[in-house]
Amino acid sequence: MSASAARVAVLVSGEGSNLQALIDAAAAGTLGAKVVLVLSNRAAARALERARAAGIAAVHVPAARALAREAYDKTLVTALAAQSPDLVVLAGFMRILGPGFIDRFAGRMLNIHPSLLPSYPGLDTHRRVLEAGERWHGATVHFVTAELDAGPAILQYRIPIRRGDTVETLAQRVHVGEHIILPRAVEWFAAGRLRLERGSVMLDGRPLPQPVVVEGAT
Ligand code: GRF
Repeated sequence: MSASAARVAVLVSGEGSNLQALIDAAAAGTLGAKVVLVLSNRAAARALERARAAGIAAVHVPAARALAREAYDKTLVTALAAQSPDLVVLAGFMRILGPGFIDRFAGRMLNIHPSLLPSYPGLDTHRRVLEAGERWHGATVHFVTAELDAGPAILQYRIPIRRGDTVETLAQRVHVGEHIILPRAVEWFAAGRLRLERGSVMLDGRPLPQPVVVEGAT
């Protein structure tokens, strides 16, 4: 990493509360990194407004139905290259990226997922954990690899599921923790403490066989 603050690009599709957590941490001086670009596949994403309000370049990259994944990914790469990011963060980006894109940013792309991976990859996690009668839920920050929601995990936020929890209360409770663990992982990466080495997470020069777990409120 260069001596100046790490440059972070964030890919989004929706609300952008995780993006906001990064913006707020950067403004507070606790991120050690600068959000330099926000890309969205949806024009109406509130995340784009949040980025613009913070003075960050925010670009809608439309996904025409006819555009194959590879062509779309190339458009993203071109937009990213202009800002030469050190790190790419997927924060609620609802498109699957192809292997070319993932290879290009190998070891410098993070994703946040709303479950305790490896449990519940994919969509609709809050409903699925409730239906399965799980006792625990949470969120995971991981390095992105070719397999969806399956890259090496770095940090998890964990909460007990309460009697009476609904999809909405779980989504809200998990979001609280996402806003803690995503900035923390970015900060570790920006400080040069975190890297991916031969498929394994290294933190402070040591392998991290299990993600660091942040316990949420009971
Ligand atoms: C989060 O729950 C994240 O884990 C998932 O998408 C959601 C994005 O929320 N990948 P927001 O747009 O950051 O508010």
